[in-house]
Amino acid sequence: MDTEEIIRLLNEAFVHEIEATMVYVRNSFIIPQCDPSRVTEAIAVDEMRHMNWLADLIVKRGGKPSMEHKELEFGGDDLRGQLEMQIAHETEAIEMYKRQIASIDDAEVVGVLKHILDEEKRHRKEFRARLERVGK
Ligand SMILES: [Fe+2]
Ligand SMILES: [Fe+2]
Repeated sequence: MDTEEIIRLLNEAFVHEIEATMVYVRNSFIIPQCDPSRVTEAIAVDEMRHMNWLADLIVKRGGKPSMEHKELEFGGDDLRGQLEMQIAHETEAIEMYKRQIASIDDAEVVGVLKHILDEEKRHRKEFRARLERVGK
């Protein structure tokens, strides 16, 4: 795989992380319940760290981080919808990182992506645990 293609994939991931960061920051302010709000805020910070790691890999390879995110979907104004949207976002990330890890042949990149993948799996678990408690 050539460097240009690696940069393209890293930018696909970078944009996904921008979207997660912005959706979770917004939702953490909208959610009135303390625990899911705090968890969402903490995970937003993780997603911004992922942006930083990916931007570092992109710039080191001569690329520029892309800011072309799609229109954001927040999951509406109730906690259930928001948590379902956040879980869907984590699932998308997990699938994307698995695909990228299987196809990229750059050890440094794969090492970072594996670390991020582990965190996305933990995020999904955290959101699922909060979803289970909704309405109880
Ligand atoms: Fe992330
Ligand atoms: Fe995540």
